[in-house]
Amino acid sequence: MKLNIAKAEQFLKEGAVAAYEPQVKAAMETLEQGTGAGNDFLGWLHLPSSISAEHLADLKATAQVLRENCEVVIVAGIGGSYLGARAVIEALSDSFGWLHEKQENPIMIYAGNNIGEDYLAELTAYLKNKKFGVINISKSGTTTETALAFRLLKKQCEDQRGKEMARKVIVAVTDAKKGAARVTADKEGYKSFIIPDNVGGRFSVLTPVGLLPIATAGFDIEQLVAGACQMEKDTAIGVPYAENLSAQYAAVRNLLYADGKKMEILVNYQPKLHYMMEWWKQLYGESEGKDGKGIFPASVDFSTDLHSMGQWIQEGERTIFETVISVEKPNKYVEVPADEENLDGLNFLAGKRVDEVNKMAELGTQLAHVDGGVPNLRVSIPELNEYYIGQLIYFFEKACGISGYLLGVNPFNQPGVEAYKKNMFALLNKPGYEEESKAIQARL
Ligand code: PA5
Repeated sequence: MKLNIAKAEQFLKEGAVAAYEPQVKAAMETLEQGTGAGNDFLGWLHLPSSISAEHLADLKATAQVLRENCEVVIVAGIGGSYLGARAVIEALSDSFGWLHEKQENPIMIYAGNNIGEDYLAELTAYLKNKKFGVINISKSGTTTETALAFRLLKKQCEDQRGKEMARKVIVAVTDAKKGAARVTADKEGYKSFIIPDNVGGRFSVLTPVGLLPIATAGFDIEQLVAGACQMEKDTAIGVPYAENLSAQYAAVRNLLYADGKKMEILVNYQPKLHYMMEWWKQLYGESEGKDGKGIFPASVDFSTDLHSMGQWIQEGERTIFETVISVEKPNKYVEVPADEENLDGLNFLAGKRVDEVNKMAELGTQLAHVDGGVPNLRVSIPELNEYYIGQLIYFFEKACGISGYLLGVNPFNQPGVEAYKKNMFALLNKPGYEEESKAIQARL
């Protein structure tokens, strides 16, 4: 994996990134020594190198049970208990795989991440007569969106497949002791995996939260962890600042922020990376958006969104910078065919790979956006596979921890997420919210 900061650095004062080294080193030490805010949530920091072969084997064996017994597997979870798994699975999956007649892998579907009644009704209808299983993921075990979907899915699974089979194809990923998901798993005798106490949701993709669904979808979790492990080494505190990719990324984005660049747009040129962007937005949004501070993380899928958001990025308010995720080599091969009649005028592309066109779109866009006053960072990976995605995940996680401390916030809490829940529970008359209920009714 490579990081190119040149087209962002040119927007900063000369030598600014190098001069920032002492602050970045201090933030890295705070992280490494566990002396900063939120230090009880640092379990992710050395997670890749501490994952045992036995743990991976247990995950793979459970995934195999689901694979053998299910044509569809529902991953029920939201936020950090959802986005990482989906990001990796979609990045690695055949875009049309689930439409193929012969399924090699179970179809992966996501629920518990919204409260859309139509969505749940349509899911229920789709699952009718299907051999399906459920991975129920919730650290707290009480998240309403997930619990609601799981209640419906559990019933449907038991009704359609019988209690005994349901017990085999429902797996819980939750806290070791507390929460309704744990109570249900223990009472029903589901296979379950533990989310470590010291790993927050958005940093949990390399725990069973991500690893179990990813293995169930048919992907190599050993390679994913190996990539993350390599990045753990490459971004370690002893690695020189100028070579430390996470330190450099954290440094540049904070310097740009201090210079008035309040929004970071993560960009991809591969539609499969759409959910990597969603995962990244949660990682950075929840970690940094607090105390009245924080870069607003946004994302676009190019070249699709060049035809919608391109105008704003080129000429709108100059408070943005872009970080482009570039995949050097596609996994498949498509060449533009020659056409004798050339009615579409595309013969100038004949014989070129589609990816060459995509790469020129990428380069042309970078030049245009830099000309338009948009600093550009570029993160590139050689290809889309488990190993490089593992690298990407850890690179962003480590940079997020450093970046949060540079910004002066606790990157590992999310107090703001509770505000809507309190109101929703009060409005729904949840037991225990009587006072809030009265107060909120008075405001309506
Ligand atoms: O990052 C976080 O902590 C959140 O996004 C949570 O993952 C999300 O709210 C889901 O919580 P839980 O896993 O407890 O159901």
